[in-house]
Amino acid sequence: MLRKAFLTLLLIHGLVLSLASSSSSSEEDGSSEQEHDKKGHSHHWGYTDQDTWGSMFTDCNGKSQSPIDINTKTAVHDPKLPAISLQGYDLTDQPALTLLNNGHTLQLMLPPTMRIMTGFDRPYYAAQLHFHWGTVEEPGSEHTIDNVHFPAEIHVVHYNSKYANISEAANKPDGLAVLGAFIGIGLHENENYEKILSALKDVSVEETKTEIPGFNARHLLPNSLERFYRYTGSLTTPPCFQTVNWTMFNDTVTVSRKQLAALEDTLKMEQNQLLSKNFRAPQLLHGRHVVASFGDTPVQQSPKIVSLKEADSSTRPRASTGGVAGMSRGDILAIAFGGLFVVTLLGFFMYAYQQRKKFKKDSRQNVIYKPANKEDA
Ligand SMILES: *[C@@H]1O[C@H](CO)[C@@H](O)[C@H](O)[C@H]1NC(C)=O
Ligand SMILES: *[C@@H]1O[C@H](CO)[C@@H](O)[C@H](O)[C@H]1NC(C)=O
Ligand SMILES: *[C@@H]1O[C@H](CO)[C@@H](O)[C@H](O)[C@H]1NC(C)=O
Ligand SMILES: [Zn+2]
Repeated sequence: MLRKAFLTLLLIHGLVLSLASSSSSSEEDGSSEQEHDKKGHSHHWGYTDQDTWGSMFTDCNGKSQSPIDINTKTAVHDPKLPAISLQGYDLTDQPALTLLNNGHTLQLMLPPTMRIMTGFDRPYYAAQLHFHWGTVEEPGSEHTIDNVHFPAEIHVVHYNSKYANISEAANKPDGLAVLGAFIGIGLHENENYEKILSALKDVSVEETKTEIPGFNARHLLPNSLERFYRYTGSLTTPPCFQTVNWTMFNDTVTVSRKQLAALEDTLKMEQNQLLSKNFRAPQLLHGRHVVASFGDTPVQQSPKIVSLKEADSSTRPRASTGGVAGMSRGDILAIAFGGLFVVTLLGFFMYAYQQRKKFKKDSRQNVIYKPANKEDA
């Protein structure tokens, strides 16, 4: 009986050790694979044949492509990431802005006086913003969070101020910075998005444009710009240049169901087909890392008792969260191992003692040892 207990303890000990070691091995998750063959002969690319983009645009087969799935568990907090500050986003109604349907997206042209002032090595100037969306049935953000799509996504495209314009910058390694945000559905109409969406009907035909009054474009982005993910990637459309320093905000924006439906149902592309599902599938990371400007969730959450199993099950240590009132995961593990060690040691001695007793009985040898108390039968 004691022997059984001892073996069980050993087993648990081994299990815990193996769990602990597997939890520290990093894991990358890519959810789609690209394939390419077939000589591409169409001059126009589309979202239904995105697997073949690489035959016409070789960069689309590269190893730093966008979008990606953002795994919130493996994103590492980088406290050195500089905060993002914007300048000139608060546009006056004049001059007007050009809004166009280019057959792939709804795009608003932006003046270079709109800038990211801090957050990168140099200022980056705005060039345009555009959207990606799906259908009522299918959410259409490009990036995913833990493999889940949002209904839509906004991209504000900026180019490095050391280049003359966006076409100069687009194929340079440090050429572009895109600020991206997820668009969800809220109860209320978003009046800032309405400044754009109210003009949708005027650009329903492919390759048409209209003018809308300038407005505060800052309000198209989430309230908080403090929490964001950062990684190195590409344009999500051909020619897929791998020149984008990506920022995806953790805070999101919302539009009403009706506003989203308008975006999904109004624009037409070639052959009068509905322009929708203009999102590219998540691309493989190929060893890239996503860093985050934020770390642990604030301590305001109710303290929770973490069982040993729970403490071992998360894949990546997130610094010092998830502890029992002030203890880090490391502390808990240390105590657990310490406890197990003591118990195992105790078990071993008891086992050894019993074996010895048995040996004595069997061989009838003289033993000096005398038990102070007996408890096993
Ligand atoms: C992206 O921006 C960050 C923050 O300024 C910088 O550290 C990093 O080198 C940039 N990456 C590329 C590829 O330019
Ligand atoms: C961008 O700048 C280059 C170099 O100054 C110039 O040759 C080119 O015409 C410019 N392109 C646009 C679209 O302004
Ligand atoms: C924001 O961050 C939290 C904490 O990591 C995460 O649970 C959530 O999914 C993130 N949401 C987005 C849109 O990034
Ligand atoms: Zn985009």
